Amino acid sequence: MDNLPSIHGISAKKVGSDIMGPFDSNNTIAEGLEIQISDAYYKFRPSYPTAVVERIITFLGHKSSGPYNLAVDVGCGSGQSTRLLCDHFEKVIGYDVSESQVQYAVESNHSTNIEYKLGSAENIPVADSTVDLVTSATASNWFDEQHFYNEVDRILKPNGCVAIYGYAHALFHMNIHGKRLQNVFDELKYKISGEYGTAESHYGEIKLPYAESERVDTISIERDYTVADFAGFFKSRPGYYAYQDNNPQYRGTLDNLLVQKFMSVFDDVNTPPEKTVMHVTFPLYLFLGRKL
Ligand SMILES: C[S@@+](CC[C@H](N)C(=O)[O-])C[C@H]1O[C@@H](n2cnc3c(N)ncnc32)[C@H](O)[C@@H]1O
Repeated sequence: MDNLPSIHGISAKKVGSDIMGPFDSNNTIAEGLEIQISDAYYKFRPSYPTAVVERIITFLGHKSSGPYNLAVDVGCGSGQSTRLLCDHFEKVIGYDVSESQVQYAVESNHSTNIEYKLGSAENIPVADSTVDLVTSATASNWFDEQHFYNEVDRILKPNGCVAIYGYAHALFHMNIHGKRLQNVFDELKYKISGEYGTAESHYGEIKLPYAESERVDTISIERDYTVADFAGFFKSRPGYYAYQDNNPQYRGTLDNLLVQKFMSVFDDVNTPPEKTVMHVTFPLYLFLGRKL
């Protein structure tokens, strides 16, 4: 129980490549699993701080004063990144290739000016030169880069902007037992989730196709998670299911194991995992570019 076995049997490429987003552009994940992952995504993934959208709107405003008609969020998932935009644009459309992600987004939508639709980054169903802003959060590593940026360029108005952002691995330094929690997480993230390139490299490989561009790495997501909910965060990653497939002895018990690993750091045995709170920091990387 104390030591998870290493991740024999799951190739680093398979686990690594599907970690930031559950579905590739061929939509290869099994439907049942897609629904499970979308459910965990909706429940346990963080949303983004308003500082992100403020920074994006400031950049957009340097050469385009608004009012802004249309923003498009590509790889919108269950809407965490899309809903940030609704106060700044007349209309916002979130596109995703996953039916179940779009369904969660539609069902949790409270904004009359946001629509969620099926659509792919490589073929965005929007007319030429009609969009003020294209965003993509924690998703662009899934796209065919060349086709995506061709589409971005096609749909943006002159002086329209693209914003690509995402978050890296969780940090626990704000907690009293921060070092020990970090050790637990670091061990689990590799054993269960494998490596994941984009977050691992702090988004170093992202290069926007516009001369006028900037990188912002001063914003982070700050969120309190209960231990029980943070175990849920792992369920939003395909690696969690791949690990059980490859280590059948953990099938059905992996959730408990994660909870116990984190709980072992806390001295207070009377507080249950549902009430034991950890502060989690996710460093954010934001890339902004402007079409001439
Ligand atoms: C990690 S989620 C990010 C969701 C949301 N933007 C967020 O920040 O929480 C990545 C999303 O990208 C979607 N996706 C993957 N490949 C795609 C493609 N080629 N076109 C559009 N969406 C895609 C996945 O279905 C998934 O919902």
